[in-house]
Amino acid sequence: MLILEKLIIDGGTRLCGEVKLQGAKNSVLPILAASILCDDECYIDNCPRLSDCNVSMRIIRHLGKSAYRDGGSVIIGNEEITKNDIPEDMMREMRSSITFLGAIIAKMGEAKISLPGGCELGPRPIDIHISALRQMGVDISENHGLIECKVRDKLRGAVIALPYPSVGATENIILAAVLAKGTTIISNAAKEPEIVDLTIFLRSCGAKIIGAGESTVIICGVESLSGAYHKVIPDRIEAISYMSAIAITGGTGELIGVVPEHIMAVIPIFEESGCKLQSTDSGLSITAPERLGAVKYIRTMPYPAFPTDAQAIIMALMAQSMGTSVFVETVFSGRYKHIAELQRMGANIKAEDRVAVVSGVERLSGASVSATDLRGGAALVIAALGADGRSEISNIHYIDRGYENIEGKLKKLGACIARVNLT
Ligand code: UD1
Repeated sequence: MLILEKLIIDGGTRLCGEVKLQGAKNSVLPILAASILCDDECYIDNCPRLSDCNVSMRIIRHLGKSAYRDGGSVIIGNEEITKNDIPEDMMREMRSSITFLGAIIAKMGEAKISLPGGCELGPRPIDIHISALRQMGVDISENHGLIECKVRDKLRGAVIALPYPSVGATENIILAAVLAKGTTIISNAAKEPEIVDLTIFLRSCGAKIIGAGESTVIICGVESLSGAYHKVIPDRIEAISYMSAIAITGGTGELIGVVPEHIMAVIPIFEESGCKLQSTDSGLSITAPERLGAVKYIRTMPYPAFPTDAQAIIMALMAQSMGTSVFVETVFSGRYKHIAELQRMGANIKAEDRVAVVSGVERLSGASVSATDLRGGAALVIAALGADGRSEISNIHYIDRGYENIEGKLKKLGACIARVNLT
């Protein structure tokens, strides 16, 4: 059941203090999917309390393994998986449930899933996943939104050239290839830190993978995988979100645990807008000017370039900056839904196709707005923190998909924010 909740934010308070980062959502989800490949228990530490993690745990239990939470960790049992399908309601709740596909095929030789759900960011096809799995010897048929996969003889390694460095497809191929017969070579692979984290976990379980984080990844299939302890990397998009929350209020703070290298493409954006950043023993500190300057040009691209997941968040910042910023979203075609909501708060943004021109206003004004997707929702929270007056943000179940205790962390920084239940 969907719980109807809202965030109420009174803007204008200068945020100061420390934020301890959660484990990366985009790491933990494929790692949880990978755990079904393992014969022994897996202990995944720094596992954020997110609705998407709960869906992953439900899928794991449905497949036949135990999965339970122990504080900040999730423990997956050593049971064999016995099912090869993912129920439609679980697929609908989260797009990254598609990452289970490669793992189920590797373990069971067949899989049945429906087309994945997730945030609406425009068309999100899975043709790259399907074509790669076919090259590995999987027969795949698609009928009325149902995908049925069956390994022809044996799942086997293949040389796969990706037409685009898709994060999910790279993960899916790795998950299928670790138990396949022979060697798989992925060229034009995605290089995100979350892919590196997934391979660190798999290697601790005995997988043979080299090149993760580079554009060619080589996987030599092994007979079986053990279990492992793994600590998930800090969430780089959460880091950028709290840096933005601090920056829009002219505040100062420290991001505990952030790996600066993971946000290399975003650090110059904060500096260009006038923020002072400094690495510290425990992360990165940020001190924002009273009013942010505009950043001329932001183009989203696969890692290591500027991440699409930070586009809406930085757009909220620029909406209240001095000057004009141009955004070009090259990764997802439908990722500008937050613009209409920011406009309700007084933002001056003109968008056409993949380009958005943001002319900063002196002060956004509080309004009733609705989260349109996960990062678009975070952008509204950031805009509301900088705005004059009160904002009410609805549809916050999107935000809860990616941010653990967002109101608690912001309150600790001094924000006037409350979650109210409407049911
Ligand atoms: C992952 C992240 C998401 C991030 C995105 C891009 C997770 C759980 N989600 O999503 O937060 O925004 O990477 O950094 O890790 N595409 C195809 N065919 C395919 C697969 C993808 O055309 O088979 C297209 C998509 O429609 C999109 C682009 O490729 O336009 C990037 O998608 P992809 O890298 O696969 O993103 P996700 O893995 O879905």
